[in-house]
Amino acid sequence: MLITGGRTLEGSVRVCGGKNTAVAVIPATLLCDEPCTIENLPDISDVRALVDILRSLGAKVDYVPGAFMTVDPRPAEVCKVGYADSQRLRASYYLLGALLGRRGEAQVYHPGGCEIGSRPIDQHLKGFAALGAETETTGGRITVKAENLVGGDVFFDMVTVGGTINVMLAAAKAKGTTIIYNAAKEPHVVDLANFLNSMGAKVKGAGTDTIRIRGQEYLHTSTYAVIPDQIETGTLMIAAAATGGDVVINGCIPTHMEALSAKLLEMGAKVSDSDDAIRVRSLGVHRAINIKTQVYPGFPTDLQQPMSALLTTARGTSIVQETIFEHRFKHLDEMTRMGAKVRVEGRTASITGVPELFGAPVTCTDLRAGAALVVAGLMAHGTTEIYHPEYIDRGYEQIEQKLRSLGADIRRETAD
Ligand code: EPZ
Repeated sequence: MLITGGRTLEGSVRVCGGKNTAVAVIPATLLCDEPCTIENLPDISDVRALVDILRSLGAKVDYVPGAFMTVDPRPAEVCKVGYADSQRLRASYYLLGALLGRRGEAQVYHPGGCEIGSRPIDQHLKGFAALGAETETTGGRITVKAENLVGGDVFFDMVTVGGTINVMLAAAKAKGTTIIYNAAKEPHVVDLANFLNSMGAKVKGAGTDTIRIRGQEYLHTSTYAVIPDQIETGTLMIAAAATGGDVVINGCIPTHMEALSAKLLEMGAKVSDSDDAIRVRSLGVHRAINIKTQVYPGFPTDLQQPMSALLTTARGTSIVQETIFEHRFKHLDEMTRMGAKVRVEGRTASITGVPELFGAPVTCTDLRAGAALVVAGLMAHGTTEIYHPEYIDRGYEQIEQKLRSLGADIRRETAD
């Protein structure tokens, strides 16, 4: 991906449906006892991987990118996801909860996904065990099996989005009531609850730290549109500020963006919103600030990386604390090649503002690191070559087209 920076982004752009909600809602279709339809899905590689996985399980999937996905799970007899498919995305582990809920058994290999820490799944397995499932992890495979899936109480040791979602999937049809304590409150947890309830499930309290699920025998058809992508919205907001531009982001949910909006205002950018749009304006001069990633509604860890690109030219020194994942600063090494001045000590990075960045060849190490390098490339003087942009395609639909429509000079070529 080649970006010639120094151009301001101006105009309006529409965000897509959410990646992290889509990868939870698509496996949840396996719990339905009839065909169901999901709309507003982003056309990203994680979604396409899940289409292949559902088909490999025997489900009938009719996917029209940008329009809808209809899943008829009734023919699905298989309960195992192969190694290669499991590795294609982090969220392959949601097939554990969905297949456990559907047929009482599942086998998935340890998932792929971004290398941003060890990312164990002990809490997921603890949750399944609380519902009466036997769990086993040998040979890189995770096997869960329950003769009789019954509701139970789950108290998570730490707030885990994946763990919360996986237990919701398994509990939706378990016999009895499941209560999840210390649950994640992210918007995509609420979106999954709303989808399950649209099929007749009984999920209460999503969005709070205690979620109650009364298992149901039968889940009926539903047509459901997933919420817009909170992290794509945030990435575009950051890019607008980083280029000193004036951008309106349409089709988003401003209340999901409050932590980022507050930080952009603190830096000196202008942020205003209506019910489904946010406008970000900036003159390109920003104050240094401090960021500490937190679970929702705190500052999202997924926006820490793109935000750190913006901080490289803020006036003063910014302190960034990454409290969720152990290794989420690899993008900073890449940005030092562009002239950024950073120092990392464990989970804390200090970023001292420099007058400007310079284009350089850099490499994506994970999805949001890629997003950070795109923001840095838009800011930099000269041309930045971003290698392995396929990481970016996992979570952003048509990122070049969107940025080009706002005035960016960005294109893709095949590296020799
Ligand atoms: C989800 O990852 C997202 N991925 C991540 O987005 C996001 O960064 C993260 O939630 C936090 O919001 C998807 O939704 C597919 P966690 P997940 O379980 O579920 C530890 C992106 O860029 N933990 O909330 O893996 C874990 O190691 C991706 O879109 C355990 O120790 O995150 C981490 O330190 C990157 N044991 C912390 O909890 C467990 O069993 C939070 O992880 C589970 C988690």
